[in-house]
Amino acid sequence: MILKGDTIKIASIVGARPQFIKLIPIVKAINSSINNSYKIKHLIIHTGQHYDYLMNKVFFDELQIPEPDYNLEVGSGTHGYQTGTMLKKIEEVLLKEKPNIVIVYGDTNSTLAGALAAVKLHIPIAHIEAGLRSYNKLMPEEINRILTDHISTYLFCPSKTAVKNLKKEGIKKGVYLVGDVMYDTLLITLEIAKNKDHTIIQKLNLKPKEYALVTIHREENTTNFEIFNSIFSAIVEIANNGLTVVFPVHPRTRKVINTIFSDFSLPSNLLLIEPISYLDMILLEANSKVILTDSGGVQKEAFFLKVPCITLRQETEWIETVKLGWNTLAGTQKEKIIKAVFNLNKGKKYYLPYGKGKAAQKIVNKILSFCLK
Ligand code: UD1
Ligand code: UDP
Repeated sequence: MILKGDTIKIASIVGARPQFIKLIPIVKAINSSINNSYKIKHLIIHTGQHYDYLMNKVFFDELQIPEPDYNLEVGSGTHGYQTGTMLKKIEEVLLKEKPNIVIVYGDTNSTLAGALAAVKLHIPIAHIEAGLRSYNKLMPEEINRILTDHISTYLFCPSKTAVKNLKKEGIKKGVYLVGDVMYDTLLITLEIAKNKDHTIIQKLNLKPKEYALVTIHREENTTNFEIFNSIFSAIVEIANNGLTVVFPVHPRTRKVINTIFSDFSLPSNLLLIEPISYLDMILLEANSKVILTDSGGVQKEAFFLKVPCITLRQETEWIETVKLGWNTLAGTQKEKIIKAVFNLNKGKKYYLPYGKGKAAQKIVNKILSFCLK
């Protein structure tokens, strides 16, 4: 029971690139909820899943997210090693800090480890981005989501589909439709971007709406040679056909390209660049003719920015983007990908199935009201 003048302690557990991006509006909403009746301490626990500057610190620096209170420096490894090490280290922090509630974000190994550590200590869990399903259990993220949803106390869903998915699994209690925090982040960032000079388009010598933007990092697309070769050959052919391709390469994918394609001469209009900051990414997305991706976050950003998207997977959790005609599920076959790029579908209908950019404030209001009950 929290009394007037007490401190409400909220712990956010993050670790991977998209989680830093989802954290931004939550930090902002918590800061704007501080009032005279109670104090709020927002602890940020970083598992260290992502650690390269361009996968990690760049987001804290650029978007002014407070430094994490803890960095557990777990780093890379097999799923068991990574999740297990996180679980042990997160538990130590939770035992010491005794937060009133733990927030976990999305579907990474950091999400599952955070939720498992909290549930065993009987700390309530708020899951942001609850209820998403691909119905493909070969994806590590699908396992992380299902398990996290089933042990969460409060499930914050980005879409009606997510609420329905939970209902199918018998989860009805504690479910709230709030919208997508990534839309909140995008709106906040577009405001910040207005007041800053951006040079990425000039730096890369790009013409707006005359290039394709690519990201690939899913385990299932990067660990099977045939699948990766098929996707990468499609991208090379698209560039050979005259469309400039900008590809900020995730470190997982960089390793594969360096191993398999180091002896290949690639077209000069295929720009393989390092991962980029969020502001640069948004700018590249907004100005692209088409986006090809296997990322969850990038599919949605393409939709929010009304850029046609080609998803390099067989299924998506963000099915509204497909139903509205802005996203094409091309899979991983070379010919299908090329065909999709040169027969672009531009959405015919547009509405916002993922809220209006106020998801974080709704989540924080609910969390505070639970804590004060
Ligand atoms: C993870 C998430 C995925 C999310 C993605 C966001 C899981 C199971 N997967 O995938 O859901 O979409 O983050 O980007 O949690 N590496 C580096 N430097 C880094 C980070 C990673 O070199 O800073 C390399 C390492 O070789 C590592 C590999 O990338 O083994 C994969 O990293 P990992 O965090 O395990 O998975 P992601 O593919 O990043
Ligand atoms: N992103 C970024 N720089 C990059 C690539 C992606 O800032 O070089 C952002 C992107 O705009 C989106 C998020 O990272 O907000 C998506 O993360 P990622 O694709 O790694 O993971 P997923 O969303 O698939 O879990």
